[in-house]
Parts: sequence; structure tokens; C-alpha cells
Amino acid sequence: MNLDQRRAGLTIFPVDDQLANKVATRRRPEEAATQQCSVVGQCVGGHDWSVPTPDREDSRTLASYEAAVERYLEHSAPPGPEMVRYLDRFAAMVGAGDVLELGSGPGWDALHLEALGLRVTRSDATPAFLTRLRAAGYDARFLDVRTGDLGGPWDGIIADAVLLHLDRPELGNMLARARRAVGDDGVLAFTVKEGDGDAWTTAKLGLPRHFTYWREPALRDALTSAGWRVHRLDHVAGRHEPWLYVLALAGKTAKD
Ligand SMILES: C[S@@+](CC[C@H](N)C(=O)[O-])C[C@H]1O[C@@H](n2cnc3c(N)ncnc32)[C@H](O)[C@@H]1O
Repeated sequence: MNLDQRRAGLTIFPVDDQLANKVATRRRPEEAATQQCSVVGQCVGGHDWSVPTPDREDSRTLASYEAAVERYLEHSAPPGPEMVRYLDRFAAMVGAGDVLELGSGPGWDALHLEALGLRVTRSDATPAFLTRLRAAGYDARFLDVRTGDLGGPWDGIIADAVLLHLDRPELGNMLARARRAVGDDGVLAFTVKEGDGDAWTTAKLGLPRHFTYWREPALRDALTSAGWRVHRLDHVAGRHEPWLYVLALAGKTAKD
């Protein structure tokens, strides 16, 4: 299949030629692993397109959030019943502790956690979200989960619908840094979309965002490799796509 054919049946927004080369369709893992630059033309940095190009995909995603923040907020709503249950479980595990929220976005989850007695430090890598949070009186930090210093030690770290923007190596790296940023009783909560491969979509923003899909076994492997013990991993039917809701604990792991 050539690039034009790929583009033809797409819901994908081709940002530029190089990016379109990389993202022209939802890729199954085995396809991504075998696709070569020669198939799709010039690859960024000359990589096989199965090799993540540093910063490229999530940086484009962040640029989309920045440009379309108002549109995102129009679609955004307080957490529904399933998310409320999840946040309640996280809060019960953490107790009255200090929590770092990654990718706070509009900040709905932080509000809910604070109502339950947690102290939440909001953060994001999209300046437009930070501007709004600060205007509302919150101390919101710029923090890019791929590279930023997570600080700590925190009692809990939460990232709802954020780490799905990282590629697989980036998620593994982030999980290891998160493990070092919590105390021995630390709790990690994050949600990702369930499925195979990865995809670009213009849904919701009208601009491209990149998602990496996960299955339970691979996600469990990533967590245990990074020193986390999975407490719960729930399969949740979302409005449009299925999700995985993770609650993990620091402390003793199978490796200890
Ligand atoms: C789908 S929104 C979720 C927002 C919020 N957590 C919620 O559930 O309402 C994704 C959020 O992740 C943030 N984000 C994406 N990539 C990020 C990165 N590398 N570092 C930090 N935040 C990131 C975006 O700016 C956005 O706020």
C-alpha cells in the first residue's frame, strides 16, 4: 500500500509529509515492526518508523492541545461515575497525602481528590492549561512527563488520560521515574486506552493527537519492570473506546 492509498481511507490528519509518512494509518504492532523507511519515503532522522522519533509525536500532540484548548474545554466534563469510583479508590489508598497530578488539563480530577482531603499539585506540559489553572488560583507547574523532574517523594501520582500520549519506551521510562518519585507506600494511578498499536486522530480537537494503545499483559510487564506492584487493573468501557484503569503500589514487588 503506498502513501496515497494509506491517506485515502483515513481519519488521520496529515500534519506534514514526514509525519504523514509515519502515521498514515493505525498500525498493528507487527506491521509497525516490519515497516521500513524505504516503504514510506524519507523518515525523520532516517529511522525505521517503528523506532520512536524523539519528542516528535507527543510534541505535535501538545501543540494541538495548546492550539485547541478552548475546544477541548467545551468537550470536557466532570468525572463520570466510573472515574469517580476510580478516584475514590486512589484517594482511599493514598489517605490524606500529597499527590502529583500529571497532565491535569482542565483539572476536574484534582478538584475531586481535594474534596476527598488530598493535597494535589497540578501540572501539565500544555501552557494554555496552566494559564487557566493559575488564573483560577491554583499553583500549576509546567511538567513534561517524558523528561521532567517529578520531584517527590509523593504519596501518590495520578495521570488520567495522559500517558497514552507517550510511546512504549517513554511510558516504561516514565514509570521507572515515577517509582523513584514516591515513598515506600506510594500509589500510582493512570489510565490508557485499551487496544493494539497506535494511532493519530483529529477527534475532539480537530487537530492531530497521537495515542498508544495498551493491552493488559504488556502494561503489567511495564509496571513490574519499573518496580510497581499492580493493585488493580480494570477494563472500563469508555463512551467511544475501552480503557484500562491502573492502580499500582510501590514497595515490595516480585523482584524484591
Ligand atoms: C486527554 S487530556 C486529559 C486531561 C486530564 N487529565 C483529564 O483527565 O481531564 C491529556 C492531557 O495530557 C497533557 N499531556 C500530553 N502530553 C503530555 C506530556 N508529555 N507531559 C505532560 N502532560 C502532557 C495534555 O496537555 C492534556 O492536559
